[in-house]
Amino acid sequence: MSNTRRILITAALPYANAPVHLGHLAGAYLPADIYARFQRLRGRDVLFICGSDEHGVAITLAADAEKVPPGVIVDRYHTMNMEAFRKFGVTFDNYSRTSIPLHHETAVEFLMEFQRRGILSEKSEKQLYDEKANMFLPDRYVEGTCPVCGNTDARGDQCEQCGTFLDPMQLLNPRSKITGDSPVVRETTHLYFPLGNYQARLEEYVRKSDAADGWKENVLQYCRGWFKEGLKDRAVTRDLKWGVKIPLPGYENKVIYVWFDAVLGYISSTKEWARLAGRPDAWKEYWLGPDTKYVAFIGKDNVVFHTIVFPAMLMAWNDGGRERYVLPANVPANEFLNYKGQKFSKSRGWGIGVGDFLQRYPADPLRYSLAAGLPEYRDSDFTWRDFQAKNNNELADILGNFINRTLAFAVRAFDNAVPPRGPLGDLDRGVLSLLERTPPAAAEFYEHYRFRDGLMEVMNLARGANKYFNDSEPWKTVKSDPVRCATTISISLQIARSLAILMSPVIPGSCERIWRMLDIPGEAARGLWDTAGEDALRPGHRLGTAGILFTKIEDSMIEPDSTVPPGEVAPPPGAAPEKITIDDFRKADLRVGKVLRCEPVAKSEKLLKLQVEIGTEQRQIIAGIARHYRSEDLVGKLVVVVCNLRPATLMKEESHGMVLAASDAAGKLVLVTPESAVESGASVK
Ligand code: 2FM
Ligand code: ZN
Repeated sequence: MSNTRRILITAALPYANAPVHLGHLAGAYLPADIYARFQRLRGRDVLFICGSDEHGVAITLAADAEKVPPGVIVDRYHTMNMEAFRKFGVTFDNYSRTSIPLHHETAVEFLMEFQRRGILSEKSEKQLYDEKANMFLPDRYVEGTCPVCGNTDARGDQCEQCGTFLDPMQLLNPRSKITGDSPVVRETTHLYFPLGNYQARLEEYVRKSDAADGWKENVLQYCRGWFKEGLKDRAVTRDLKWGVKIPLPGYENKVIYVWFDAVLGYISSTKEWARLAGRPDAWKEYWLGPDTKYVAFIGKDNVVFHTIVFPAMLMAWNDGGRERYVLPANVPANEFLNYKGQKFSKSRGWGIGVGDFLQRYPADPLRYSLAAGLPEYRDSDFTWRDFQAKNNNELADILGNFINRTLAFAVRAFDNAVPPRGPLGDLDRGVLSLLERTPPAAAEFYEHYRFRDGLMEVMNLARGANKYFNDSEPWKTVKSDPVRCATTISISLQIARSLAILMSPVIPGSCERIWRMLDIPGEAARGLWDTAGEDALRPGHRLGTAGILFTKIEDSMIEPDSTVPPGEVAPPPGAAPEKITIDDFRKADLRVGKVLRCEPVAKSEKLLKLQVEIGTEQRQIIAGIARHYRSEDLVGKLVVVVCNLRPATLMKEESHGMVLAASDAAGKLVLVTPESAVESGASVK
């Protein structure tokens, strides 16, 4: 690896059917961006490619739900997601989209090449058909019971509960997503790619790539599972109107299967990048260059397409002898990030959107907290408390504090310039040795896609530097031993520069600010990683203006509504809400309820269990107000209840609705109650 100069990095093309959420960031985009930034810092020639996946049933279902053409959906979310990635600081060299002609041409070129060379075969197969809607029901157009785990809401392409990839025909009790009817079975014709013919070579490819670059165990396990089952032919066309059209007789009403075209989106996006750069052939340097290292970042639900389907397609192309595409050297797939115990999910509307989040907080604290808890080996959880703690206790109290006190001292005692160094003592030698060890140690982790551990190494340097500052007591030595004090501050400034380089893959915005505070020309970027341990600030170098790097996040800013049940998107507090129509508002069934009984929920500091009378009905509601109300004070109170929320289970207790509360300036929750007595069950409008 250390000799590789050119690195092609791709991150899964997200469907343009909903806003990207924090789960996407932790799964693929943040690790990919850390890796890209790190490799640029090492002086490597990096090309980082992504774009929107704009075809497939994921898109048409979203369009059907809104009764708009698919183009409206993809335009909206392509723009929105590109902007969210930009705000989050993801440094794609190109963010394309699969609806552009260049992409359609690329996908058709592959399909037709395979067809011309006789690789594809045509087969008739049985498929589910919705007689009322008059159409076949591929992939997600069907839901039903998973034959593996019994989940009654499994999708036609995959069961989200157990992860099994499915064909709609495998579902038990299938139902159409369009009409809800039970579909019938009809014959249809499709082109098939013979995945099985490539199995031996794919096994060899995975084995060799793992030996060369250390694949993650979770990815290898998926591969072993599929190999064991035996790879089967896969249909690469679909009976749909939206997608890449197929220029073959008999295929006028069909399109290319979304996964066949999506993975080629990496190539077409690179071609677009080359055209925009005015060097239309430059894409070949990456895709066809024998010295390219290609790394494909994805979430775990995309593994089969990147370790098996895409490599097999590239092998098939390469066999033609015209060109040789490079195959992924590694596919570092992360596990899932969960939110309140459940996987972030666009289709279920569960999670926190990136755009919403970044309206409220800057990108760096989010990047840092996600990076420190990446689901690299197992699922991890996003919690507001953890986000707050990472920002306050680590970024502000350790890194920010160290940079700040160092610069403040330089202004006060050394006229805002780097002081000269005197003889070194034990403390100096200790921290300098830590500094010397950190860049290679962190690099070793980053080269192997272990971003949590790499970040921890760098953060340990910040910790060590803070301790060094404390133990050196420059506020005392400034009077008693000025040469000692100058040495402490000079070394601290050197470490500040080092941290600005080493932290920049994770918190680039803050590192740029540190760079400016140190008034170093240029930016903390290209090629600097290996100089990060060096003493590069000359005595007498004048420093810039110091400022606060990280603002603490107060409790009241992060206290989320702990009773938001699945199915509801929980926006970060304070985010500008989306405009809704009066009809949207009327969807909420708000009624006055009367609290009959109340008790704390076992083992929970936050939750109370309320029995609420709503007209003639009685319901149990779990509310996150235990820190703000005592049970006995609630009995008899009138509250406003959202009655038509889907039931949720919180700490093993069922909740059938939500009580409305407002948050006062100190973060205390205050229940919303009618101004004068009304009957329980009265509707609130
Ligand atoms: O899971 C998804 O969001 C897919 N759109 C990922 C596609 S990755 C690649 F093939 F483009
Ligand atoms: Zn299942």
